Amino acid sequence: MLEVGQVTIRSPEDGELKAFLETTETAFGEALHEGDVERWTPLLRLERQLWAWDGDVAVATAGTYEFRLQIPGGDLPTAGVTMVGVHPSHRRRGILTEMMRRQLDDAYERGEPLAALWASEAPIYGRFGYGVATAAARIEADRDRIAFRAPDEPTGRTRLVSLDDARSIVPAVYERVRRATPGMIDRSEDWWRSLRLVDPEHWRNGGGPLFCVVLELDGEPEGYAMYRLRGSWEDGVPGAKLDVREALGASPAATREIWRFLFGVDLTRQVRAWLLPPDHPLFLSVTEPRRLQMRVGDGLWLRLLDVHAALAGRSYGCDGRVVVEVGDRFCTWNDGVWRLEVEGSEPAVERGGGQAELRLDIGDLASAYLGGFSFAALQRAGRVEELADGAVERADALFRTTVTPWCAEIF
Ligand SMILES: CC(C)(COP(=O)(O)OP(=O)(O)OC[C@H]1O[C@@H](n2cnc3c(N)ncnc32)[C@H](O)[C@@H]1OP(=O)(O)O)[C@@H](O)C(=O)NCCC(=O)NCCS
Repeated sequence: MLEVGQVTIRSPEDGELKAFLETTETAFGEALHEGDVERWTPLLRLERQLWAWDGDVAVATAGTYEFRLQIPGGDLPTAGVTMVGVHPSHRRRGILTEMMRRQLDDAYERGEPLAALWASEAPIYGRFGYGVATAAARIEADRDRIAFRAPDEPTGRTRLVSLDDARSIVPAVYERVRRATPGMIDRSEDWWRSLRLVDPEHWRNGGGPLFCVVLELDGEPEGYAMYRLRGSWEDGVPGAKLDVREALGASPAATREIWRFLFGVDLTRQVRAWLLPPDHPLFLSVTEPRRLQMRVGDGLWLRLLDVHAALAGRSYGCDGRVVVEVGDRFCTWNDGVWRLEVEGSEPAVERGGGQAELRLDIGDLASAYLGGFSFAALQRAGRVEELADGAVERADALFRTTVTPWCAEIF
């Protein structure tokens, strides 16, 4: 049990998940809905959740999922931070800070080298060593202006499947995409059942049901999309908005065809999607990219909890060496100089190991870690100091990835 003033922090026990979730919902100004407890039960291990109490009043929560995050060349155990909320009555007294302290310590002790989250507001997590690691793009495209460049003949077969049937089809496609895409998380069966292939009424926000379409190329599932329509008729003219929840293809052809399907749904005026990679192939696949109305914001935030394990765990773009001085005030065990040497594609990571060539904060190293942001871009933003000529270029050659990292969902 931890104490912040008169507030104590503990994990919920058996039978307390409902009350725990109610505490979170109140912090977000919302309420628990029917089915929520059953949905979260298989996903939230109680010992990974933190619950703050002021006397006999529950006032804050923070928790983590347990999953693996895809990084260049593999994946690593990751604390997926979720359920973070402090009641308005108890804000700005350091409760979040104390929960973050304990959460990051616990994850480090469990051997999770990374923590990841989606921030409700960007200024919250930098102080705890998180850095923005992926960008997330959104589109809002008027369907009648979107035409595909050649090859403009549709290929493959699409069919609508029920969410139940989708469970035996789409996870394999997702897994193929995930394995090739830094920033994606692995999904358990419970995850699919509870969070992805599910359509609670209160998630619809006035829209229609969630549909799932599967694309087959040469008879095999290669892509899928989940989407819903928000119908509208003005003066008898159909003007629905089609909201894409997730659309993935395991090959370039499958990605093109699944989007061709989405832009072909009748009665639709506009197609909207979020959480896309900023270099989504759609941009180069349509005749009028401007008409996609693409906008980019911050995506996944990442925390390197164990610099040694994180650097040793990923693959690199070439052989080479760089020595970085990392500043980490919140997890001081990372603070200091680290040498990364890649030889024959094998990384060796050593503490100390020479004169620092780059100086940066732990959150900025997280921004570069998945390959989402280059050291050169960080340097231009005044976030990396080059202490030896050419070090930024060498670091970029090492950390470069061919696939832009992105994460297809908020958790
Ligand atoms: C965000 C939230 C969890 C912060 O909790 P808290 O207990 O007030 O945070 P702390 O008191 O530990 O604040 C630590 C520092 O972060 C700053 N901070 C906290 N929330 C912030 C926000 N939303 N924007 C900017 N700064 C913020 C505080 O000002 C404080 O700064 P200081 O140390 O310089 O004084 C809380 O405001 C909340 O529940 N918000 C609504 C739900 C939400 O957005 N949850 C996050 C989901 S990702």
